[in-house]
Amino acid sequence: MLLNRDDLIKKAREAKEFAYSPYSNFKVGAAILTENGEVFTGCNIENISYGATNCAERTAIFKAISDGNKSFKEIAISSSIAPEKPIFPCGICRQVLAEFNKDMLIHVDGDDKTYKLSELLPAPFDKNQMSNF
Ligand code: THU
Repeated sequence: MLLNRDDLIKKAREAKEFAYSPYSNFKVGAAILTENGEVFTGCNIENISYGATNCAERTAIFKAISDGNKSFKEIAISSSIAPEKPIFPCGICRQVLAEFNKDMLIHVDGDDKTYKLSELLPAPFDKNQMSNF
């Protein structure tokens, strides 16, 4: 089955319902599409030690990677305040996504524009920067 943008956003919306976010009360859901057409979803998972919190985007990509996937085409993100207000992936998530596809497409619930990850993170830290290490 071919998924379009709205299908992926719908999956992100569904995923946010599983958020564990008792500290912020802010739910986030993500759905990532692999090269071979599979979708993995994720939600934010908070911790009383706040820094241990995992964002929805990283939950989704980590689930996909740990099931054997390394090629990703698109990711959709939804939150408690969508579609009234779109939210964009945080810096850590952008860097994690860039590890696997610097040009991944980003769909944000509430924003009709589809972004390229390279627009949102034009200069990720990458292996070329470590070349004389
Ligand atoms: N959060 C995400 O899951 N993804 C983002 O892109 C931004 C922030 C989560 C982390 C935390 O649980 C809550 O939103 C408030 O920051």
